[in-house]
Amino acid sequence: MRLSLLLFFCLHGICWTKYTCVYQPKVLYVKEGESVTIPCSYTYPDYYRRKSQIIVTWGKAEGRYCSKITKNITDPSGNIVDDEYKDRISVVNNPENRTGSITIRGLKATDGVTFCCIETIYTTTSKAFSWFDIYGTTLTFADGKSLSQVEELIAVPGEEMVVPCHHPLKPPEKVIEVSWNSGDDVCRYTEDYRIYTWPQTFPEDGSLYSMVNFPEDVSLRIHGVRRNEHRSFCCRVTYSNGQYTESRFGTELTIAGPPSSGPFNVTQSYNITGHRGESVTLSCSYSPYMESDVLGVDIYWRAGNISGPYVYHPYKEMVHPNYRGRTGIIRVADLHIQGLEMSDASMYYCFVMIRWCRETGKHQKRIQYGGGTRLMVTASTDDKTESHLDPSVVIIASYLSFKFFFPLALFILVKIWYRNVTE
Ligand SMILES: *[C@@H]1O[C@H](CO)[C@@H](O)[C@H](O)[C@H]1NC(C)=O
Ligand SMILES: *[C@@H]1O[C@H](CO)[C@@H](O)[C@H](O)[C@H]1NC(C)=O
Ligand SMILES: *[C@@H]1O[C@H](CO)[C@@H](O)[C@H](O)[C@H]1NC(C)=O
Ligand SMILES: *[C@@H]1O[C@H](CO)[C@@H](O)[C@H](O)[C@H]1NC(C)=O
Ligand SMILES: *[C@@H]1O[C@H](CO)[C@@H](O)[C@H](O)[C@H]1NC(C)=O
Repeated sequence: MRLSLLLFFCLHGICWTKYTCVYQPKVLYVKEGESVTIPCSYTYPDYYRRKSQIIVTWGKAEGRYCSKITKNITDPSGNIVDDEYKDRISVVNNPENRTGSITIRGLKATDGVTFCCIETIYTTTSKAFSWFDIYGTTLTFADGKSLSQVEELIAVPGEEMVVPCHHPLKPPEKVIEVSWNSGDDVCRYTEDYRIYTWPQTFPEDGSLYSMVNFPEDVSLRIHGVRRNEHRSFCCRVTYSNGQYTESRFGTELTIAGPPSSGPFNVTQSYNITGHRGESVTLSCSYSPYMESDVLGVDIYWRAGNISGPYVYHPYKEMVHPNYRGRTGIIRVADLHIQGLEMSDASMYYCFVMIRWCRETGKHQKRIQYGGGTRLMVTASTDDKTESHLDPSVVIIASYLSFKFFFPLALFILVKIWYRNVTE
């Protein structure tokens, strides 16, 4: 049954979707007065493509779930219907790649709510179906009063890594305990979901995990990620007065697979040579994968080996300082490095993460890396011509000629003159 469906839906490497999903990041950290863009991507069964109209609108949820939308922000024609946002919101819709976004400017404390992207399919029989991502996107003000964690991280088996957790700059009381738990979509803080506690009481053999620097930095260090470590890591901090703060969603860790181990392939160029001071592009591509089911693609590049430092990462702060500000992604997944230095000569690995709609309302992701590209860096041709006329050599030569040859010449001249006079 499964196979026949697959055969039916996949022809020439392109598959057609059967499911509907809407995807938004669960949390975005924002600051008052700044602006934020909330992205949304969606899929729908292919048979709706010609027969129906697909519209994206935005609403605001009361509480935490988009199942309770209390106010529409936009209407089906794209007009802003919520007066609170009349001059502060702009809406973008890209039906060709099934994405949309809203940008909110001049953020106020009251914007710290959940924003929901709603996909509505109007069929010719004038029926309408609506879909949304149950968690929407909650804007959280980075006010130093709550915990913050990054939404997702990647790792390869065996890697040593840190899952960051930042607690308030000025905790209300002394931090006395940290607990790391796992979760599915949301964090679970019961005993069954316990991963690690500090001061260490769980697990008894805590050698797999440690604290980065308790109590200042309660981030979790994992000593050797396991193949089945694919889950969310949720941080909870307890204070001396018995109160605690905890993350709602945690950090989702996805374990990367080797080339051609999964549903798509990542291909990189083998060897490439660049010149010092110039820029270079390392190519990376992936085989088409259920194109119309895809909700998003994220690209990462690492140097040295597959667990080496990040040269490119969707979170800028994760990029190694030697590369920060010098790298970017062009086209789909190609790495562009500017201002090449001799020390950039290394192996570079491209990681591709694809998130797709597995079944209606459920998305899944998979990450794979390529076989690596060897970058060689040569001194540029300009350098070579410069080495013949090195400015320091010129300066030293003129200095020496001034210091020694000028007085010598003067001495000879004076001597000739003196002889002429005395004769
Ligand atoms: C939002 O608009 C839809 C139609 O686009 C309507 O069915 C729904 O009741 C509205 N919701 C609210 C809370 O006004
Ligand atoms: C979708 O298309 C728009 C306009 O063509 C583009 O600006 C945007 O980056 C695209 N989004 C993705 C995720 O490819
Ligand atoms: C990936 O590459 C391997 C070997 O080159 C090939 O056998 C396999 O069919 C490819 N898979 C996909 C999904 O393209
Ligand atoms: C890439 O460079 C290495 C080392 O210089 C060499 O051994 C290898 O054969 C090269 N591979 C290709 C495909 O050119
Ligand atoms: C990978 O690179 C990192 C950092 O450069 C190094 O610490 C680690 O030992 C390397 N791992 C392997 C397996 O070579």
